[in-house]
Amino acid sequence: MHSDRFLKCTMDEESIFWPSREEMARPDSFHPSTLQDVNGLEEGVEFLPTMNAKKVEKRGPKRWVVVTTALIVFLLLSLIVGLLVWHFKYRRAPVQKVYNGHLVVPNLDFIDAYENSSTPEFTMLSKKVKETIEEIYRSHSAIGPYHKETVITAFSEGSVIAYYWSVFIVPAYRAEALDNAMADKQSLIQTVTYKSRNPVLQVKSVVAFPADPSIIESSRDNSCSFALHAKEGEITSFTTPGFPNSPYPNNARCTWVLRADANSIISLTFKTFDVERCSEKSDFIKVYNSLSPVEPHSLVKLCGSYPPSYNLTFLSSQNVMLVMLITNAEGRNPGFKAEFFQLPKMKICGGTLKGESGVFTSPYYPAHYPPNMDCVWDIEVPSTKNVKVRFNVFYMLEPGIPVNSCTKDYVEIKNTKYCGEPPSFVVASNNNKIRVQFHSDQSYTDTGFSAEFLSYDSSDPCPGKFTCNTGRCIVKTMRCDGWVDCTDASDERSCNCTENQFRCNNGWCKPRFWLCDGVNDCGDNSDELQCKCPDKNFKCSNGKCILDTQKCDGTDDCGDGSDEGKCDRAQSVSCKDYTYKCRNGLCMSKTNPECDGKKDCTDNSDEENCDCGIRSYSKQSRIVGGLNSEVGEWPWQVSLHVKGQGHICGASLVSDKWLVSAAHCFQDTSQIRYSDATLWTAFLGLHDQSNRNSEKVQERSIKRIISNTLFNDYTYDYDIAVLELQSPVTFTTTVRPICLPDSTHDFPAGKDIWVTGWGATSEGGAGATILQKAEIRVINQTMCNTLMTGQITPRMMCVGVLTGGIDACQGDSGGPLVSVESNSRLFLAGVVSWGDGCAQRNKPGIYTRVSKLRDWIRQQTGV
Ligand code: ARG
Repeated sequence: MHSDRFLKCTMDEESIFWPSREEMARPDSFHPSTLQDVNGLEEGVEFLPTMNAKKVEKRGPKRWVVVTTALIVFLLLSLIVGLLVWHFKYRRAPVQKVYNGHLVVPNLDFIDAYENSSTPEFTMLSKKVKETIEEIYRSHSAIGPYHKETVITAFSEGSVIAYYWSVFIVPAYRAEALDNAMADKQSLIQTVTYKSRNPVLQVKSVVAFPADPSIIESSRDNSCSFALHAKEGEITSFTTPGFPNSPYPNNARCTWVLRADANSIISLTFKTFDVERCSEKSDFIKVYNSLSPVEPHSLVKLCGSYPPSYNLTFLSSQNVMLVMLITNAEGRNPGFKAEFFQLPKMKICGGTLKGESGVFTSPYYPAHYPPNMDCVWDIEVPSTKNVKVRFNVFYMLEPGIPVNSCTKDYVEIKNTKYCGEPPSFVVASNNNKIRVQFHSDQSYTDTGFSAEFLSYDSSDPCPGKFTCNTGRCIVKTMRCDGWVDCTDASDERSCNCTENQFRCNNGWCKPRFWLCDGVNDCGDNSDELQCKCPDKNFKCSNGKCILDTQKCDGTDDCGDGSDEGKCDRAQSVSCKDYTYKCRNGLCMSKTNPECDGKKDCTDNSDEENCDCGIRSYSKQSRIVGGLNSEVGEWPWQVSLHVKGQGHICGASLVSDKWLVSAAHCFQDTSQIRYSDATLWTAFLGLHDQSNRNSEKVQERSIKRIISNTLFNDYTYDYDIAVLELQSPVTFTTTVRPICLPDSTHDFPAGKDIWVTGWGATSEGGAGATILQKAEIRVINQTMCNTLMTGQITPRMMCVGVLTGGIDACQGDSGGPLVSVESNSRLFLAGVVSWGDGCAQRNKPGIYTRVSKLRDWIRQQTGV
């Protein structure tokens, strides 16, 4: 960001001090100096031959005076004409303005008939309200003259709230004044109570907001508008037109008016949600805490697709809600299925909490809390103790609001406001009382928080543990271990480094292994400084230093190709081991050009066969805690079962009938011939091992198993196998293939990568029933070979978290190690192969390096 600003700054300067390119190119005749030439020429008119001097004098005013006067008159005329054209054509050009609004009729009781716009009661009341609105407009000079039409769209309780839209045709130069007058609530109300002698109806709280003109057409077209009223004790459901068998209509605007009884609120849940992938112009759904679609009352805007586990429950603050679907000309998505029901309105929230400890949450957690809510919790623990509050989950994020201002929704404790989505945090008090306040404003809500309060001894806040400056307690061994465990890193400050550690410039202690591994482990890069090449040099992956100018010049100066691998421009270069080869034989200097959405090869072969590595759900759950996967999160994950033994190994789907797995899974033992394909069954689209009959699961027998003949069961070199399915699978939301990386594909050290499987959740422990996921880092090959005492071959890669605690384990073998590349596309970087125990510190997991075996996979499978 810093360098960006610098760049911008220098560019501005350039435009001030230097003539622009066009200026420089302009012909000289446009320069001021040449205007003088023109004048000179005009002066020349005076030089008449001397013999004609008399004649000239007789002609009355001098000719130049006439010419000048004519010129001035002409200029003045054109100015006036120009002004008139501007005034009538542009300033007075009529523009259409539309406003959405609502008002309250205080002295009227709501009756059921007002819900239905075809009843005589509705017609009567809307006529009166309309007249009143027109009267208000008329009495305001900035509004009245331009009003064209007002339509009352609905009524709701409280006493009676009327919703309407108004259209104005206003000359362009009056548009701003109209906007201001409409935005000024005060002026709208005052006009009724003071100026008007005979108000048709008493009204108050008149508000209006600028709206999209297209609502006029759609409110006249009722083909996609629905009105639903919640039934006591029942759940009402509704869907987009055609759901789930056909896609929702294009170029549509659909509305669902949801109502509940008086003094109730509405709970709305999207059970399945799949609309067009989000982009600036994509289809979207908006939910409003009102019956008029105005921005200040919108609760959420949704697009894309959500996994079933994502919490999409929203609460209203009154007994009405509006759901709106806006679609563009493209896309074929199924849409949504939603349910709603009514709840009694919550009178109060918060309260007094007493005791040693306890839990509390934001209203209706984990649903999206309602707008317009304020809760206060007064927490008190026994008088000899102190109290602290720990927020285990915290989501109060408003689109477009910086999290350091917390101007909209927030939690406030001891004069500090919290908002956004911070990782779990603790707020401690130095006495036995603490007050927690929750506030939500009228628009955009989130899922809120789940918190607990605990009493603690002021002399020992974390018995047997280390106390972070944030108040969190962590186990003592995490102190000064080189890894940040307290969110504020206080566990890594003021440490004495041990002999196996070195001291970063920022004072942290890091394992010596991490010096010069090409990854910034210190955070200030000081672990990579001492090993740096001289100035204007590039450091190769093998440690060699070359001149910067030799980087990306098409020659392998490093000897390992690393200077030619990470080039930005796709340039045709002479082919090497590390250059991507297009189908036409040309080689590219760009790293990982496959399926990145950009055409790099002239024959486009780098962007072919790219229907892979994309998840069906564009959104992922934010639920923390646990490493359970979402349904559909890893649709290429396969579970391989052996008859009578259940799940044995993992595998990855790479086409509709080929799987990639580990060769060691199919090694025969004295009892069982694991190489026999008929022993195995593949489960695709599986999430929960105990629910293999789910309709999302596709079960297949294995036709043949091809293990790499170079597999060495002692060293585990070439630990790869491909399996052909008896019959192809169908791609669905839960079954899709992963992309195979090109043999030149680079997965650099330090890159975050994911491993998934149903393997043991602890060393020697039992397998998981729900598919697990873990995020780990690629480890420098040379470094890893040192850590693993020279057992690492070029067909292996080390990936792990050296703090320990996160790793693949028994039962994960054969399963995928995937990396998120450009365009959020995922590639199969590795296959779970082996490890020294599981999740031990400084013992990464070892994976088969798929890129090194890419050609072998192609030979065997044609994929
Ligand atoms: N060989 C194991 C299996 O068959 C996989 C071990 C992976 N170990 C590790 N620490 N990453 O399931």
